Amino acid sequence: MYTRGNADPPEKRREGDRVKTVAIASQKGGVGKTTLALNTSLALARRGWRTLVVDADPQGAISLSLKKELKVAEGLTEYAQGLRPLAELVLPTRLAELSFLPVGGIKAHRPSAVEIGEPVFGNLIDETSAEFDVLILDTASGLAGRTLRALRTVDYALVPMQAEPLSVRTLDGMLQTIAEIGDETGLQLAGVVLTMVQSRDEISLETVQEVWSLLPSEMVLEGFVPRDPAFLRASAHGVPVSLLSRRRPPSVASVFDAIAAELEVRIGLVSEGEDDIFHLLD
Ligand SMILES: Nc1ncnc2c1ncn2[C@@H]1O[C@H](COP(=O)(O)OP(=O)(O)OP(=O)(O)O)[C@@H](O)[C@H]1O
Ligand SMILES: [Mg+2]
Repeated sequence: MYTRGNADPPEKRREGDRVKTVAIASQKGGVGKTTLALNTSLALARRGWRTLVVDADPQGAISLSLKKELKVAEGLTEYAQGLRPLAELVLPTRLAELSFLPVGGIKAHRPSAVEIGEPVFGNLIDETSAEFDVLILDTASGLAGRTLRALRTVDYALVPMQAEPLSVRTLDGMLQTIAEIGDETGLQLAGVVLTMVQSRDEISLETVQEVWSLLPSEMVLEGFVPRDPAFLRASAHGVPVSLLSRRRPPSVASVFDAIAAELEVRIGLVSEGEDDIFHLLD
């Protein structure tokens, strides 16, 4: 069994609970999957959940952006090949609750050449079950190949949707596919997260309204990600947006705390109504 040997499990975790697994997936590329994966994972970790971010995108977007040295790091690819135990591949971060599994295979220039099958994802989940409360998998766009295999293994899909008219048209097919996978594997939709919302753009706001009216509220998170230049700066520096500045993080960073709070309930880390009131004194 994989052991990292740090902090005690948070009190919130209930005995016998299995790690919750969430794949961030979308049909379309460039809609904010990686941004959502990274920033929501950090928010979950800051809320006390032991969180593992898995870079399941062969392009290794998170691995390439987080830290330059990760370009040579090993990770999921070597795990799939049985070259290294997980304990040697999972990287701790400055935040005790947040760990990271890079895509790996980059040294050999072939992270996409190695098939990651459902048993690999299954073993990964089993091996991390005791150490983590939640696994967030960043995936490549499209619902085929490695992304499909990840979706067939995890409990939940979280779907970012760019707030533009074209996205609404692809949403139906996306939800249909998730439902079909779910019929076979039990995959559930954790929800759709609207991204790159432009509050001063009429078309963007109309799209938000359309999605809210088209889909039942349990399918769409109330929290959404505004379009903000801070994300580009964060990508350029390879950091989650809240870490752009120690003293004055961009205000947009706070949306991920709200998204994480909603996600906690949607994926069963906490139940609805639990911990609603937090008394300062006993
Ligand atoms: N809310 C936002 N506001 C402004 N820019 C954003 C926002 N979200 C993401 N971006 C930028 O858009 C680009 C694409 O975002 P990201 O990499 O998260 O998308 P993706 O869905 O993971 O893409 P891919 O399909 O290529 O993996 C990045 O340069 C990112 O910095
Ligand atoms: Mg990405």
